[in-house]
Amino acid sequence: MAHETVTGDAFENLLREKRQFAPSPEFAAAANVHEGIYAEANADPEAFWAAQARERLTWSKDFSQTLDWSDPPFAKWFVGGEVNAAYNALDRHVENGLGDRVAIHFEGEPGDTETITYADLTERVKRAANAFESLGVAKGDRVAVYLPMIPEAVVTMLACARIGAIHSVVFGGFSSEALRSRIDDAEAKLVVTADGTYRRGKPSPLKPAVDEALAEDGHTVQHVVVVRRNGQDVAWTEGRDLDWSEVMGAASAEHTAVGHDAEHPLFILYTSGTTGKPKGILHTTGGYLTQTAFTHSAVFDLKPETDVYWCTADIGWVTGHSYVAYAPLVNGATQVMYEGTPDSPHQGRWWEIVQKYKVSVLYTAPTAIRTMMKWGSDIPAKYDLSSIRVLGSVGEPINPEAWMWYREVIGGNGGRREERAPIVDTWWQTETGAIMIAPLPGITATKPGSAQVPLPGIAVDVVDEAGQPVPDGHGGFLVIRKPWPAMLRTIWGDPERFKDTYWSRFEGMYFAGDGAKKDDDGDIWLLGRVDDVMNVSGHRLSTTEIESALVSHPWVAEAAVVGAADETTGQAVVAFVILRGEASIPEGEDPAAVLRAHVGHEIGPIAKPRHILVVPELPKTRSGKIMRRLLKDVAEGRDPGDATTLADPTVMHKIAQDLRK
Ligand code: WTA
Repeated sequence: MAHETVTGDAFENLLREKRQFAPSPEFAAAANVHEGIYAEANADPEAFWAAQARERLTWSKDFSQTLDWSDPPFAKWFVGGEVNAAYNALDRHVENGLGDRVAIHFEGEPGDTETITYADLTERVKRAANAFESLGVAKGDRVAVYLPMIPEAVVTMLACARIGAIHSVVFGGFSSEALRSRIDDAEAKLVVTADGTYRRGKPSPLKPAVDEALAEDGHTVQHVVVVRRNGQDVAWTEGRDLDWSEVMGAASAEHTAVGHDAEHPLFILYTSGTTGKPKGILHTTGGYLTQTAFTHSAVFDLKPETDVYWCTADIGWVTGHSYVAYAPLVNGATQVMYEGTPDSPHQGRWWEIVQKYKVSVLYTAPTAIRTMMKWGSDIPAKYDLSSIRVLGSVGEPINPEAWMWYREVIGGNGGRREERAPIVDTWWQTETGAIMIAPLPGITATKPGSAQVPLPGIAVDVVDEAGQPVPDGHGGFLVIRKPWPAMLRTIWGDPERFKDTYWSRFEGMYFAGDGAKKDDDGDIWLLGRVDDVMNVSGHRLSTTEIESALVSHPWVAEAAVVGAADETTGQAVVAFVILRGEASIPEGEDPAAVLRAHVGHEIGPIAKPRHILVVPELPKTRSGKIMRRLLKDVAEGRDPGDATTLADPTVMHKIAQDLRK
């Protein structure tokens, strides 16, 4: 694994940022958590998490041991406890008289809407639980979910959780190839999908990708349940394919949830790593629910009786799992769910939604903030955003400029309001399951561009190459020193890879793959990945995975992929390819365009390189390792500088010359 240094001009600028914004006394006084929580939690993290688990969840059987860390890095939290995720997200609220509270305000892309109460959602999940059981899905079986952002996605996830089936949600933007490999790796028995969705006013298909994924035999899927969303005609495999509304209509609305072991697997979510094969991150029940519920309450200061919460993430990513499907519902919140894109039918769509539902807590990604910033402040200024009281950011480092715009334009009602909404920049990963580093909005004086403080009960540090903690004012690698409740338990089917990837770099510590720096106050600034993982619009992509996709094309002899800095998307994928000498490329065909489409087919549109540069050679060390740093320099328009360690020092010159042509 390549570890690049974690310094650079952009970061030096970032660290000159000195502004600080303390919460208002009113906000602080009314906040869900207060200063003392840090001392309390850090004095005895296990006792703290045990208290959170009992306070935030309803257990059908209490646990007898908080943490079993006798076989590191394999953790067991809340040993002996039994809990049902769906019961905690749904039934108990209805039993507590909150059945009429809105769980989801659904806003469809074509403008159709649906208001779903806790009572409605509970009934739908019970039906789906019965329906899945009638299709032979039992506890421990895997269910692949390939759905757009529609309520059925949440219903499916919670129905799986209810019966103890393990969901594996695959982002709708992934291709049939990517879907097939995930179905195979998890050996899914059932696939839940939709005919399609809408994109910018037009129907956009999903089911054909499922059909293509299952076209070849040798898979484990017995049934495909299809939600009719966009009404397009789709191919139908009799016996295998079933219509969602028919299946649900035939199922009973009565279903009793039983508790599952705290360590029973809840879901698998595939994420990109440093090798070609995506990792199936496995999360379990009790610890995951405890930490997601706690963080949702503490970090967003969520008041379920009055707040309207909106997380813009798709359920295909971990943010859509933890902070759409689980935590808000476990906490009894009212949330907005939006199917469409921010610019359809116009660039004020999000702000129109905020105004319509009086969204008070908004959680989104820096790439979206930067895009809206580019569209212009006059667009949000047309809407009443005065309901907003907390703003969240996730997915990549947020630059101070975007942070300030978010604060002034979105959180400050066009500058008219005295009280600006606090911004919480939340650092976490698919692997951590829940937020790990973030300001607490009633406590922390926030700094533009920094996630700042490890959450109460979370042991984060920044260490040097040798694993020694760096002093304040220095940079290094982000690590987590102690197990945390929502931590991944393993990589599905590959415990060795789990150990190697996260626990072998530094003795006894979890290595996150991120560079970070402590400022003079000891606050943490995240500096981006230090491995071969790129972050494009807040989506994780692996350089190796895209390289493998490229070389799987018959024209390509060799490929190297880098993430080049991009103003809006954070990073953009740039590929350098060497074509095979014998490649017979038809006249008039543009190899770059063909290869972009090929990557789209192998992985999905999100992975398509922005630029593909056909080069005669790639820069390699004498041991044959591609020097991505040099390619990154070229891709970002810099002079590659020192190339003396290359086996052939003239390579960079050749590439640069070629690019000028
Ligand atoms: C990056 C998304 C800086 C980081 C929840 C991490 C961030 C990767 C932040 C995980 C943040 C996420 N500041 N960087 N606030 N949040 N990252 O698994 O590099 O899709 O390792 O989880 O995103 O991406 P993932």
